[in-house]
Amino acid sequence: MASERTFVMVKPDGVARGLVGEVISRLERKGLKLEKLKMTSVDERLAREHYAEHVDKPFFPELLSFITSGPVVAMEWSGEAAVSVVRTLMGPTNPVEAPPGTIRGDYGLAITENLVHGSDSPESAERELRIWFG
Ligand code: RTP
Ligand code: MG
Repeated sequence: MASERTFVMVKPDGVARGLVGEVISRLERKGLKLEKLKMTSVDERLAREHYAEHVDKPFFPELLSFITSGPVVAMEWSGEAAVSVVRTLMGPTNPVEAPPGTIRGDYGLAITENLVHGSDSPESAERELRIWFG
């Protein structure tokens, strides 16, 4: 496996709860490298572009309302198998099912407010990094 890059976001609930440092710390301790970081708010246009695959899903209105509700921290991370390594550290989408030791397992309880986003494939990572960092 070669070094790759991935897009990671601390969602509004993670920022509001003061968990930005915790998320960064876990990824750093794993050995991944922080390449870019910005705090920004998400408008509806950006949310629809980022979550294009979900715009027609029944949960999208709730997701849109949540992701635009406060600032997020957007990041580029790099390292060996960075995409799958970040997904493993995050845990499954639903924090109720996420095992302890994962970010969602240790800090979350609701499927919408699940603290972090990580690209689900190298192709998604390139698409998302272009959207967020140009
Ligand atoms: P993400 O894209 O945010 O990293 O999360 P994921 O891959 O684990 O999950 P995905 O299927 O891509 O869903 C995107 C986000 O939508 C919200 N969601 N709500 N109410 C629901 O059934 C539901 N399903 C998904 C979550 O915030 C999820 O992270
Ligand atoms: Mg996803």
